[in-house]
Amino acid sequence: MHGIVLLGAPGAGKGTQAVLLAKHYQIPHISSGDLFREHIKNQTELGKLAKQYMDRGELVPDEVTVGMVRERLSQPDCERGFILDGFPRTIPQAQALDNLLAELGKRITVVPWIRVREHILIERLSHRWTCRECGAVFAYFSLPPREGCKREVCTGELYKREDDTPEVQQRRIRVYEEQTAPLIDYYREKGLLVEINGEHTIEYVQNLLRQAITAVERAA
Ligand code: AP5
Ligand code: MG
Repeated sequence: MHGIVLLGAPGAGKGTQAVLLAKHYQIPHISSGDLFREHIKNQTELGKLAKQYMDRGELVPDEVTVGMVRERLSQPDCERGFILDGFPRTIPQAQALDNLLAELGKRITVVPWIRVREHILIERLSHRWTCRECGAVFAYFSLPPREGCKREVCTGELYKREDDTPEVQQRRIRVYEEQTAPLIDYYREKGLLVEINGEHTIEYVQNLLRQAITAVERAA
């Protein structure tokens, strides 16, 4: 069983890498950000609440987030494992996750921390386009692309995430440093953390991740 938790700042490439890992290991990619955006699209009560925080670059309250992830991890497709992207993001969320996994008879096997310097994060977030239908992300260095999503059969419209404005990007990075970075030591102390240089190409980072996942899981 693979229990993978991807840590990294906004724009580090968590979503990009998680999609590739999910395909490789045949396990679900669970992104708390994507789950919230799905709720916003469907105009649910949870979505309306989450939007107020997301638009400001603040974290959605722990109890709301933990409840949503609990429901997702309890689905049958998580039997063989999971890749968490963007969750946990606070120490209380990490503790709640430990309890939840114990209840479900699952565990975290490895926590890759994708490291990218701030000026590169900002550049990536500023050039990101996201598919409204499937959530796929693309890096474009131009005006809005005329064509839609190019992933497999999807033809969804590409848009700029509301939280990718310069002010909100900065806020998200500060919130990451204050509230999420303490998780690096939390998982290091548990012997689960592995550092990955996320500044290489997407393919190269993917190879580093797979090698690291194998090494840490074998050593356990
Ligand atoms: P979330 O959706 O998780 O956003 P985030 O953490 O800010 O991370 P991003 O999705 O922006 O970046 P990423 O690391 O996935 O990078 P990507 O692969 O897209 O969360 C959004 C909001 O939801 C939060 O602010 C919060 O309000 C709320 N929320 C979510 N989870 C929560 C939680 N647990 N608790 C409370 N609130 C929560 O890549 C970025 C760009 O770079 C793309 O264009 C990509 O093509 C490009 N790229 C990727 N890798 C490379 C590479 N190696 N080289 C060149 N370009 C690359
Ligand atoms: Mg993401």
